[in-house]
Amino acid sequence: MSRVGASGWVVLKFGGTSVSSPSNWASIAATARQRLDNGDRVLIVHSALSGVTDRLETLLNDAVAGDFTAALDALRTRHETLIQQLGIESPGALERWWRELADLLQQIVVARGVDDRRRARIMAMGELLATTIGEAYLQAHGLPAMWLDARDWLRAEAREAATQRANYLSATCDFRPNTALQERIESLGTLLITQGFIASDAAGDTVLLGRGGSDTSGAYFAALLNARQLEIWTDVPGMFSANPRATPAARQLLELTYDEAQEIATAGAKVLHPRCLLPVRQYGIPLYVFATQVPSMRGTRISAAPVSELAQVKAVCVKKGVTLVSMDSPGMWHQVGFLADAFQVFKQHGMSVDQVSTSETNVTVSLDPQANALDASALAALQRDLAPLCRAEIIGPCASVSLVGQHIRGILHRLGSALELLADRRIYLVSQAANDLNLTFVVDQDQGDRLVESLHELLVEPVRDDLVLGPTWSQLFQPAEVAVTTSQPWWAERRAQLLELMQGRHCAYVYDGETLRERCRELRSMRSIARVSYAMKANPHPQVLRAVSDEGLALECVSRGELERVFETLPGINPQHVLYTPNFAPREEYAWALTRGVLVTLDSLHPIEQWPELFAGRDIFVRLDPGGGRGHHQHVRTAGSQSKFGVAQNEIDRFVIAADRAGARIVGLHAHAGSGILTIDSWLDTARFMIAARAQFPHARVFDLGGGLGVPTRQGGRRLDLAALDAALAEFAPELPNVALWLEPGRYVIAEAGVLLARVTQLKSKGDVSYVGVATGMNSLIRPALYGAHHDIVNLSRPADGALRRFEVVGPICETGDVLGHDRYLPAGTCEGDVLLIATAGAYGANMASHYNLRDPAEELLI
Ligand code: LLP
Repeated sequence: MSRVGASGWVVLKFGGTSVSSPSNWASIAATARQRLDNGDRVLIVHSALSGVTDRLETLLNDAVAGDFTAALDALRTRHETLIQQLGIESPGALERWWRELADLLQQIVVARGVDDRRRARIMAMGELLATTIGEAYLQAHGLPAMWLDARDWLRAEAREAATQRANYLSATCDFRPNTALQERIESLGTLLITQGFIASDAAGDTVLLGRGGSDTSGAYFAALLNARQLEIWTDVPGMFSANPRATPAARQLLELTYDEAQEIATAGAKVLHPRCLLPVRQYGIPLYVFATQVPSMRGTRISAAPVSELAQVKAVCVKKGVTLVSMDSPGMWHQVGFLADAFQVFKQHGMSVDQVSTSETNVTVSLDPQANALDASALAALQRDLAPLCRAEIIGPCASVSLVGQHIRGILHRLGSALELLADRRIYLVSQAANDLNLTFVVDQDQGDRLVESLHELLVEPVRDDLVLGPTWSQLFQPAEVAVTTSQPWWAERRAQLLELMQGRHCAYVYDGETLRERCRELRSMRSIARVSYAMKANPHPQVLRAVSDEGLALECVSRGELERVFETLPGINPQHVLYTPNFAPREEYAWALTRGVLVTLDSLHPIEQWPELFAGRDIFVRLDPGGGRGHHQHVRTAGSQSKFGVAQNEIDRFVIAADRAGARIVGLHAHAGSGILTIDSWLDTARFMIAARAQFPHARVFDLGGGLGVPTRQGGRRLDLAALDAALAEFAPELPNVALWLEPGRYVIAEAGVLLARVTQLKSKGDVSYVGVATGMNSLIRPALYGAHHDIVNLSRPADGALRRFEVVGPICETGDVLGHDRYLPAGTCEGDVLLIATAGAYGANMASHYNLRDPAEELLI
């Protein structure tokens, strides 16, 4: 006997891309068969073929213009092609829709216009055609499919307040479970197929359900039939913790509550339309999101009960194109009715307000672009009508970045370092939803992606073994071979060699020459960049300098010590291949550098105004402050008003005059915004900034865009897209006929080539924290203590395929901050004498080491 669920029904909704290819139809048939075998009754609800709704819009316009034949033929071909690909007979029932469509279009030609009633009937054709093909396909594959006209079952509600247009084009339906309807539908069969997006009104006219309408149809049917579950089948396996196309480290969300899913859908995720949640939530019907192309993959389950009560961020969402209206009025303090009056104006303009923040003299609201037509004239009219009440300023475009998850207040204390990124940018509005599910920041639009990235990295990526946060997008979709070749670090295959090296040693830095050279070659292959200088502060080891120079990189130095190291290690080097970029160095150091013939960069007014004689007749570079600092931590952002570097924009004139007076020629512009940057816009912004400033520097023939190129800090993490940077910089070429672009990366060259190896000294448990101590700590690698930097840590002596245990990895230094890694999962059997590997330690590792506690830092070995 087959088992039948609560009512026996499952509703499967498929979107446009899901019904547009033969392979997806094979998957739909297999899924339907599997549900039937399981004893369920199946209702399939689906959309028009992808792109068809847009084509119908075109058809409408063509008909109004008087001739629709070409567009109608194209639409027909689109459907016939699919029928051929599916290998089925063209279903006779299609002819009825083609005739009806042609008639309707002809009526429009005659009327020279289209009313909402006809528009709805025409737009409904996409779903009617597609489901007719779907029925034929399923029957041809031996399934007992039976076609239903959704308009016979979904009835639009009468809405007094709605316009006629809304009633036709964005109707809502009654979805109370209806036993009479259930019985009638049940008598029809066990596998039914019907349309999303369409319904009918009391007069029997066709109406549409508006944006996201097919998801909503699925939810209506699930409620009406009291279904056991609703399944939304789309092109991604569920909802993710961020947009996976932009953030490959986005995690699949395994379990959500209706409320959380609603917040995520409303905050910008496109997988699910927020409207479809109301019916399933009301009747407690679980909703699943699955991917049609990979039907066996687990998806997201959305239900009433959370799997855990802990405070947790489940998604970081961004919505762009947000406009703010900031209303200032000293008179609003304690004034009765100000808000009511102001909101009345928004109402009159048909604008729906999203977020609100208030102070004693200011109220700022955000307007969601999806809910409002926000063109300049609409905003100007709003501003005009607000003028009698307050001074209204329109701010935009902005991005609203939301953290979504239950008890979101409980994570506020962890936001510090992510928000540091915005220290010198503006957060216009912060709003915490009353339901404690959403915390939103509104920032300038160009800051939105960065904020998402850092919040996601801080709050979502480190969470392991979780009931809610599943695998990452790249784990799900990067085939194993690709992962091995592109993201497997060099040391993964050199375990034996590294352990051998550690014989008789407690700790050591090990650098891989081949990885280092490969990074140099990648940089040298950038066609838009005329010179790459290695910022040797990252790692001045003589063998590193030789390898880098061998690969054709020039050098960037910041002190006499570094310059001397260069001349000792590379005695034959052309001094013009050495750029000296000091900051607050003493006068003698500049004088000495000039005698060595290297390129000298000045980064403040003091040298040129106070010591002009030093620079008389010299060619110099000037380091400008491009304004916004960037980078992985506040301490490494080297531009903006908080930083001590560069000539400020408002001092450029003074610098140029002083250089002129001194008789120095400014031949190069230099800037460096910060370090550890993973998005290419930083260097593009710097280039734009220099292009804008260049009129003041007629002799400048070099724009040095600085270093700062970041590397992934976690295995499989996002890489900086060098090819995209190259292509984007190449676009500036026509504007810069006589200017060469330079870069000066440090970290990018050497970080991944280096690891720190350290032997386990002791283990300890205290309360519920387990410590694993290693032979060296912040005296060798200070980055975790100084910047909270993350370095992956693995136990080289033991494979990680057995039981794991959570540890704090600490060094032997007498400071609580002497931690190399928090909350790290290492093999449970980790013990004294094992060798731990601390990854991505080649840059700013050995060179920032100290003898603190008189413990010698790790020695350096190059292999
Ligand atoms: N150019 C200038 C002028 C710089 O100040 C720096 C780094 C670079 C180039 C190279 O930046 P890179 O490509 O390596 O990001 N100790 C910190 C990094 C400090 C970077 C200082 N300036 C860390 O461990 O993250």
